[in-house]
Amino acid sequence: MVIYAVKDYEEMSKKAASIIGAQILMKPDAVLGLATGSTPVGTYQQLVKWYEQGDLDFSKLTTVNLDEYKGLPGDNDQSYRYFMNTNLFDHVNINKENTFVPNGLEEDAAYECGRYDKVIEATGGVDLQLLGIGGNGHIGFNEPSDSFEKGTHCVALTESTIQANARFFDSIDDVPKYAYSMGVGNIMSAKKILLVASGQGKAQAVYDSCFGPITPQVPASALQLHTDVVIIADEAALSLC
Ligand code: GLP
Repeated sequence: MVIYAVKDYEEMSKKAASIIGAQILMKPDAVLGLATGSTPVGTYQQLVKWYEQGDLDFSKLTTVNLDEYKGLPGDNDQSYRYFMNTNLFDHVNINKENTFVPNGLEEDAAYECGRYDKVIEATGGVDLQLLGIGGNGHIGFNEPSDSFEKGTHCVALTESTIQANARFFDSIDDVPKYAYSMGVGNIMSAKKILLVASGQGKAQAVYDSCFGPITPQVPASALQLHTDVVIIADEAALSLC
């Protein structure tokens, strides 16, 4: 595990984008595992900037996203498909047919989870997985639990996650209660993992994930067992380390 301590959100975003950019340059047909949430927004903005300058080509990439709210269609402005389109895909020359996000409208959870695992498998494997982290140590939507989930699964979101994400919705009652998420097993199968964290609210989660016991109560602690993890965190997120 390599931890880059950076000053602030802007520096974190540039550093993360440079690692993703290098991956794209080295392997134009790479498979990127992508994440949502407010933390990676600046990273995507930097990638778009480099694309506009002619420095990056997204045309041969495949992407698989970590998760999606169950019950939201892709054109709902709070869905993660919408987030990816508006923050990245609409601004670069990616072929959207090669961008994958779980289908939030599929009601049959067992079907959707099995289907998405096959989608991930069919990509040939994720070269670089980008992650944010929840204040409770969740990655994707793998919430603290008694065991690590292997594959894509349907998650009942915890009260703290619902509250944390309520800021994006008109009211807390509008926040979906369930989500489809890659499992920790899917995430750990990526060749390389890049986790970004910013702000005091992530300090405990970052400390526990990097230096605490490896436990499904802190899902990101599993990353300690991966052989190629880079964490880019700002001063506030590292304040307990
Ligand atoms: C959501 C997402 C996670 C993300 C987390 C933190 O729950 N499913 O992938 O890491 O929020 O979000 P933020 O970056 O906005 O703090």
